[in-house]
Amino acid sequence: MSLSNKRVVIIGGTSGIGLATAHAAIDAGAEVVVASSRQASVDAALGGLPAETTGHTLDVLDTEAVAAFFEKAGSFDHLVYTAGESLSLMPVDGMDMDKARAFFEVRFFGALNVVSVAARYIRPSGSITLTSGSARTRPGAGWSVASSLCGATTSLAGALAVELAPTRVNVVEPGIVRSPLWNGMSAEDQQAMYDQQAAALPIGRVGEVHDVAQAFLYAMTQSFMTGASIPVDGGALLA
Ligand SMILES: NC(=O)c1ccc[n+]([C@@H]2O[C@H](COP(=O)([O-])OP(=O)(O)OC[C@H]3O[C@@H](n4cnc5c(N)ncnc54)[C@H](OP(=O)(O)O)[C@@H]3O)[C@@H](O)[C@H]2O)c1
Repeated sequence: MSLSNKRVVIIGGTSGIGLATAHAAIDAGAEVVVASSRQASVDAALGGLPAETTGHTLDVLDTEAVAAFFEKAGSFDHLVYTAGESLSLMPVDGMDMDKARAFFEVRFFGALNVVSVAARYIRPSGSITLTSGSARTRPGAGWSVASSLCGATTSLAGALAVELAPTRVNVVEPGIVRSPLWNGMSAEDQQAMYDQQAAALPIGRVGEVHDVAQAFLYAMTQSFMTGASIPVDGGALLA
């Protein structure tokens, strides 16, 4: 899978799945731009990436900043959107509606905000890849909002694939992946959660960020695929 002479912009590319995708895209020959909201994350990511990689602070909810970012970035080939925050379970009984709405901000409206500007800078034969999750198809109790968010994001990718054609638009649906997303939990609780999830999966382990990065690479380089959702979840659908 070659990305030689391609320019890839990864929003959320300073950590976890996005950062692993940056490394994979660079290994495949791409020039990569990463962006996220905190300067410390950008600095830390650039510290481990090749010198020619550029990084910028960008809050996906800041419409003016998003417009300025893409105007400055100029034309490019592939957009990857992995910006997100950790999930918290919300039982529907007595649900806090403000919290429920806020859940959609970065992952859904952030993606929409970014795409609404970025699309015009994407070169012919380019692509957009969004991030959803296996909660779309395998929600547990307390996952109603998280599952709805994933469904909305997957549907968004399909609709964008129609509206923005011939730009290809796809979505990756990860299952549980070992990443800094879960750093709000203690190390012990994280490991217990990974172990519990792994035991229920046909593959017998949780995902690693490089597993998911390969799916983003595939979505960028598979020139006959659009409107597709790619599950990378260790077989969660069958569990
Ligand atoms: N890890 C999993 O188990 C898993 C499973 C299913 C789906 N997913 C989804 O996959 C995506 C990536 O997850 P991950 O595990 O790679 O998480 P992560 O390591 O926490 O990375 C999230 C990235 O999003 C950036 N970000 C957060 N808020 C932002 C904002 N307002 N504007 C711009 N950037 C922002 C973060 O950087 P800053 O802090 O600098 O902003 C960071 O670079 C998320 O949407 C997540 O919901 C993850």
